[in-house]
Amino acid sequence: MIKKIGIPKEVKKDEGRVSLIPEHITQFTGVADILVESGAGIGSGFSDSNYTEAGAKIVNSAEELYGNSDIICKVKEPQEQEFDLLNSSHVLFGYLHLASNLGLTKKLLEKKLTGIATEMIMDNSIYPLLIPMSKIAGNLAIQKGMQFLEYSSGGKGVLVSSISEKKNSNVTVIGCGEVGKSSISKAINIGANVTAIDLNEKVLEDLKKVYGDSINTIKGDTPESTDAIRCADLVICAVLIPGMKPPIVISNEDISKMEKGTVIVDVAIDQGGCVENVKANTHSEPFENRDGVLISAIPNLPGAVPKTSSIELSTALQKYVHFLLEEDWFENYKNDKNLSPSLQIHNGLLLSEEVGDSLSLSVSKLV
Ligand SMILES: NC(=O)c1ccc[n+]([C@@H]2O[C@H](COP(=O)([O-])OP(=O)(O)OC[C@H]3O[C@@H](n4cnc5c(N)ncnc54)[C@H](O)[C@@H]3O)[C@@H](O)[C@H]2O)c1
Repeated sequence: MIKKIGIPKEVKKDEGRVSLIPEHITQFTGVADILVESGAGIGSGFSDSNYTEAGAKIVNSAEELYGNSDIICKVKEPQEQEFDLLNSSHVLFGYLHLASNLGLTKKLLEKKLTGIATEMIMDNSIYPLLIPMSKIAGNLAIQKGMQFLEYSSGGKGVLVSSISEKKNSNVTVIGCGEVGKSSISKAINIGANVTAIDLNEKVLEDLKKVYGDSINTIKGDTPESTDAIRCADLVICAVLIPGMKPPIVISNEDISKMEKGTVIVDVAIDQGGCVENVKANTHSEPFENRDGVLISAIPNLPGAVPKTSSIELSTALQKYVHFLLEEDWFENYKNDKNLSPSLQIHNGLLLSEEVGDSLSLSVSKLV
């Protein structure tokens, strides 16, 4: 039987992305029916007629979309107003980030649906669906940080870029993977004094090879790394232990030692954040002012540039939707070592050890 893939309009605050763009829908003609909620592509610059021309059917409400779809192909995790729309027949496919969200995890278990966390899909030890969003988020972390450092935001009034040989700003990046490398590249290009911190020394050596004297590299969890965190104008936090809630790398004590107007951008907030007591912000209320230090933790940074982000996301995602269309997809999926880490919820069972550890929930194994 031909399956129905539903593409809902995202309802997370300030989220303009859509999971699949019209160009990538044509390939499903004759293989699956595509239902798109009216307006789902608007934030990314795609109209309903762009979708119908590509072969999709437009439905007028979320109820109609969820009620008639087998696969719910989303960008972000379901929000509270979507919970009632989910049912046990659904395969939910999107960035779920369950390790930081006990309420959502319990709700998905209760619904007895199948939940696939696309950020955990692997391909030869990399995470192909996380990487493009991480690269965008790393760029935006600098862009946002520059804006928050402005005087009118309550920042130090420091220009991150330089206007002469002399560098104006100190940018410290903690966690130098995809997000971190993007932030580092942007910060160095505009002339900031950049310090990179990571626990993995090979990562730091590679950065030195690329940037030479233009970068300072420091092993994490050392007195030197603490100094570099406390003395920066802008700190970007981008650590990740895949599937888990991240460790705290900026403590309340660190924050108390920072100059007023310092900006911290906690990009890892989607996994729970790595700044002590951090709370998620939104694009419209982008930071908390904690005793003069501005802490920004926006879990959907790429949502700020949905046109760019949706094209990148859909490009990476399209191939993986096909795996869900096969007749015996579930057996294949659970036995595939690259795909199985993303299969995290099924029929009331939590399958991810990382999520179980992070939320102190018991985990089941499928046989
Ligand atoms: N907020 C957003 O919109 C958004 C968007 C994309 C990605 N993210 C998140 O950003 C985070 C980073 O993603 P990524 O793709 O760059 O991950 P990555 O795996 O590429 O890089 C993570 C880096 O953190 C380092 N690390 C781990 N523990 C550390 C510690 N205690 N101290 C210092 N370094 C440590 C690792 O060695 C690695 O180099 C993730 O939580 C990801 O989900 C957020």
